[in-house]
Amino acid sequence: VTLYLPRDSAALAAGADDVALELLAQCSQRGLAIKLVRNSSRGMFWLEPLLEVATPEGRIAYGPLTPEDVPGLLDAGVLQGAAHALRLGVTEQIPFLALQERLTFRRMGVTDPLSLADYEAHEGWAGLRRALTLSATELLAEVTHSGLRGRGGAAFPAGIKWQTVAGAMAPQKVVVCNADEGDSGTYSDRMTMEGDPFMLIEGMLIAALAVGATQGYVYIRSEYPHAVATMTQAIVLAREAGFLGANVLGSGRSFELEVRKAAGAYVCGEETAMLESIEGKRGIVRAKPPLPAIEGLFGLPTVINNVITLATVPIILARGAQAYRDYGVGRSHGTLPFQLAGNIRQGGLVEKAFGLTLRELIYGFGGGTRSGRPVKAVQVGGPLGAYIPESQWDVPLDYEAYAAMGAVVGHGGIVVHDDTANMAGLARYAMEFCALESCGKCTPCRIGSTRGVEVIDRIAHGPNKAQQVHLLRDLCDTMMHGSLCAMGGMTPYPVLSALTHYPEDFGLPTNSPT
Ligand code: NAI
Ligand code: SF4
Repeated sequence: VTLYLPRDSAALAAGADDVALELLAQCSQRGLAIKLVRNSSRGMFWLEPLLEVATPEGRIAYGPLTPEDVPGLLDAGVLQGAAHALRLGVTEQIPFLALQERLTFRRMGVTDPLSLADYEAHEGWAGLRRALTLSATELLAEVTHSGLRGRGGAAFPAGIKWQTVAGAMAPQKVVVCNADEGDSGTYSDRMTMEGDPFMLIEGMLIAALAVGATQGYVYIRSEYPHAVATMTQAIVLAREAGFLGANVLGSGRSFELEVRKAAGAYVCGEETAMLESIEGKRGIVRAKPPLPAIEGLFGLPTVINNVITLATVPIILARGAQAYRDYGVGRSHGTLPFQLAGNIRQGGLVEKAFGLTLRELIYGFGGGTRSGRPVKAVQVGGPLGAYIPESQWDVPLDYEAYAAMGAVVGHGGIVVHDDTANMAGLARYAMEFCALESCGKCTPCRIGSTRGVEVIDRIAHGPNKAQQVHLLRDLCDTMMHGSLCAMGGMTPYPVLSALTHYPEDFGLPTNSPT
């Protein structure tokens, strides 16, 4: 009997290793022959550790488990998929999963992350094999036509970025994967690297073929030790199997790939600070231009994309650009892995086409708050994203619709707060976060964030509130328009949205015109 129990960080944090040890010990004592595959989490975190049993009906899920549950499960006949209080039915029929449109995440939890055979058997390398039959021009046209935009948050069209790199004249070009996933409540990059690492390698290989790069780096945040380990092992396996090195699959093309561990600074997720960090320098933002696409790592033309952007390229090549483009709404094509976090009953990863609403995500998938109290505010797009009030929960999640209301979809992080949240406190936290993480290169961010904390304190606790609100709005305007990068430029999003939609938390009259 084949059993599956995840071994990615999310499952490990929930105690998956203890359950695995107990399962192996109990089965050995009882003389039961099992094969235990340590897969990746399916992304239903409230059910972890989640055990799946392969049966003729499909995989049957049981969870969330503790080691103490194991003897009882075996007594009940879990190896045959028998009934038990923790039995959840056929995994893929659990509504949270069944209602998704998993494209990039289609193998997540299905395959053994480090099995090349599993990867191959589930559409792995199909995109690369097709890419090897296309010219660079055809490849660039395919990615451009798919409508894929940067999933790190900025949503710049990937095909256009690649065309810029392809068109730059240089002896060598580079592909850098930005895996410094720093947004609060986000984990889709981590899940990809821990749960389906060959997909990222395949995406980077295709990018390299398209732009003519021979060297790649995956810059992984140091807080992700499991992702670093899995990616490193996957690179070794891919090299041994001929996918990396001097002659990729006998094509005569060469591509080398290495992991670089980041040093723990939020700003190093900003692409130019990341380049400085990879070059061994302090992570300080570079002024643009020149764009990294023209002059990037070590001065070479560099493709920089987020993990999900690159990991989505294989399916675009495998199934065709049009098939991918057909998902989504408006200019937001394809799917986004939304990540539900914060005060939410069913936290986890939801891959859906653009166009669904926040309400569907937080109630349909998430089941409301974990505390059982009403949802007050939802921060979308990380610590620099706006707080979305209930009046905006029915706006379709697409890049343009969100931009139009002064918000961002960003990297798809969704952090839910219940009615005990103090929005003035959260606005203050945003300014404080900026002050702590600022690289210090430009004044609006370096000084503005510290002054911002002080002004918010004065609004909440001092006299002359109207004057201080005016000052805060003025400061936010300067930060937005005068900062060199998104750190200072976007901190006003959470601050202003909190002030505008929740004035009462600042001690201001409700629906105050300020
Ligand atoms: P940006 O809008 O300046 O640039 C987007 C990308 O397009 C960059 O890679 C840039 O080099 C490239 N680009 C722009 N014009 C180009 C051209 N003509 N040819 C080729 N490439 C071109 O945005 P930025 O500063 O890179 O990212 C800001 C975003 O990052 C924010 O919107 C935020 O959502 C997101 N973010 C994500 C985090 C995460 O953990 N995933 C953390 C913090 C912020
Ligand atoms: Fe550095 Fe902040 Fe300026 Fe960005 S906005 S360059 S983080 S000081």
